[in-house]
Amino acid sequence: MMSFSAQSHLISSVLYQVHWPCALKKDAEGTGPEDFVPLNIKGTWAAMEKCYESGLAKSIGISNFTVEKTKSLLSHCKVRPAVNQVECHPLWQQKKLWPYLKSEGIHLTAYSPIGSSNSPFADINVLELPTITKMAEKYKRSPAQIALRWNIQQGHSVLPKSTHADRLASNIELFDFEISEEDLDEFAKIEQHRLLRGDEMWVNDSTSPYKTVEELWDGDI
Ligand SMILES: NC(=O)c1ccc[n+]([C@@H]2O[C@H](COP(=O)([O-])OP(=O)(O)OC[C@H]3O[C@@H](n4cnc5c(N)ncnc54)[C@H](OP(=O)(O)O)[C@@H]3O)[C@@H](O)[C@H]2O)c1
Repeated sequence: MMSFSAQSHLISSVLYQVHWPCALKKDAEGTGPEDFVPLNIKGTWAAMEKCYESGLAKSIGISNFTVEKTKSLLSHCKVRPAVNQVECHPLWQQKKLWPYLKSEGIHLTAYSPIGSSNSPFADINVLELPTITKMAEKYKRSPAQIALRWNIQQGHSVLPKSTHADRLASNIELFDFEISEEDLDEFAKIEQHRLLRGDEMWVNDSTSPYKTVEELWDGDI
């Protein structure tokens, strides 16, 4: 049924999402050209709609869809995506995608909201950005709390991950302080840089639907 990789398992989900706008063979991880099968977004979304209509999923959504790919989906869908889950943090604020999603009433969920600090694709550490460390000092919060609070104040939900109990606890202590409008303007000045570009995962010169990262992200990179 799923030609896309899917983020949740289908045992009556609250939210069931298309993980990437790429189609893979069953159980493939998308790490090599042999993993891809032809992309069929219309067919996949029709199957997602059946999950919704049958009650297996309370909501259906997408992930890693650009403005152009979301627009294309909206042009033929019967059930609109409730959510688009994308990389979002102060270093990659989704300045093109977010206004569009907002205008369409689609919620943005932020993945890697503290910049995936230990992962190999994070060539810049979000938690060490001067704006973040300055605000952490000013508000007497950890850099992670500042990055997460910024996201929350944009209206997004956040998916922070940690293997440490103390960090898990502090990463949800976000609702007893507020970053001022003036300080939010400082975040708006941060030079933007997408961390998870997908070069190695989804882009190759043979069977992938995208030959370059620019095609994958429709130039928003
Ligand atoms: N839809 C998609 O395509 C997609 C893509 C990427 C990620 N995601 C999802 O997004 C979620 C999070 O993404 P992510 O793991 O890439 O990024 P993240 O949550 O931004 O960063 C996780 C990293 O930050 C560290 N960390 C957590 N809390 C911290 C704190 N308070 N201070 C300092 N470091 C802290 C963690 O290390 P420790 O474990 O050592 O604390 C871990 O290395 C995951 O659930 C993932 O599945 C979705």
